Amino acid sequence: EQIEKGGYEHFMLKEIFEQPKSVHDTMRGRLLVDEGVIKMAGIWDHVEKFKNANRIIIIACGTSWHAGLIGEYLIEEYARIPVEVEYASEFRYRNPIITDKDVVIAISQSGETADTMAALKLAKEKGAFIYGICNVVDSSIARITDAGSYTHAGPEIGVASTKAFTAQLTILTLIAFKLGKHNGNLGNAEFMSLIAELDAIPKKIEDVLNTTHELTQNIAKDFVKATNFLYLGRGYNYPAALEGALKLKEISYIHAEGYPAAEMKHGPIALIDENMPIVIIAPRKGHYDKIVSNVQEIKARKGKIIAVVNKGDRQVSEMADYVIEIPETSECFSPIVASVPLQLLAYYIAVYRGANVDQPRNLAKSVTVE
Ligand code: AGP
Repeated sequence: EQIEKGGYEHFMLKEIFEQPKSVHDTMRGRLLVDEGVIKMAGIWDHVEKFKNANRIIIIACGTSWHAGLIGEYLIEEYARIPVEVEYASEFRYRNPIITDKDVVIAISQSGETADTMAALKLAKEKGAFIYGICNVVDSSIARITDAGSYTHAGPEIGVASTKAFTAQLTILTLIAFKLGKHNGNLGNAEFMSLIAELDAIPKKIEDVLNTTHELTQNIAKDFVKATNFLYLGRGYNYPAALEGALKLKEISYIHAEGYPAAEMKHGPIALIDENMPIVIIAPRKGHYDKIVSNVQEIKARKGKIIAVVNKGDRQVSEMADYVIEIPETSECFSPIVASVPLQLLAYYIAVYRGANVDQPRNLAKSVTVE
């Protein structure tokens, strides 16, 4: 096992550090920047299905559901196809309206999640075209779907999903850009600039790992005794906040909630006092001014602010107690980059609390029962 961990203390840390490679592997052979092409046979062979779909329904559980939410932002923004995202466990039991004009995308790292599988079967029975985004090759979901794309992140052993999540985001980004280019919603110049930026994301992840590894350890030391955490973000980073919170609760057993930052005033603001740590994702592109005012509200209530900002940021950084800098990207890529320090933060808080990060209590790597 020590050999498999490649010198890292836990699989989770190894997998966090593998992300420059795993994101690159997800794009390998698909993203051809020089030719200005995204090659994805699964999408291309059925592109008319997607193009003519009434809507795309994304079904998933847990972290994969968070990826699905970001997929909704991506596909609606770049391909202008309506998207709904549902928990598989709710979808399967609520007698959903599905027709043969719907495309259902299931996202699952393991490809074995019982609820996702059952929801897919239901969608198939009702005539939808079903598409899988799985990491495990030849898994049950990969086999039942009409078509799909593997994430190629490599085996993920840690129960808390890390590299599979960023690989799912990468695939969803490729799908959104490919569909948008094909249906004419994404112009050539923007497409070319976005794919060049996407191609550089693995390098940015590497930079973030280098610049935030020690920093997140230091921050983590101050929160070992925390009992609650709030994670806030807006736009693309709202699901990234949900995912940051899920990582922390899974492995550290600290209660954490993710929220869209603007929803804070509709309830969670009541929780804020000097004992409440709040992680806020505030990159420059993406509702920055609005986030600044959210941070002011937190500051006024003495919340402990851990801000994830872009390099050179001033406004949010001046108010924050802890600042984690990430490189600037177009908004659509920021969850990939922002998630990395949040994974590290959750990891180190859990390690300092003496938790079993690779196999947290009560959790299984794939949930094959209801
Ligand atoms: C992720 O950290 C979790 N362990 C969990 O939420 C997981 O994402 C969920 O069970 C779905 O798994 P799947 O992607 O294999 O379907």
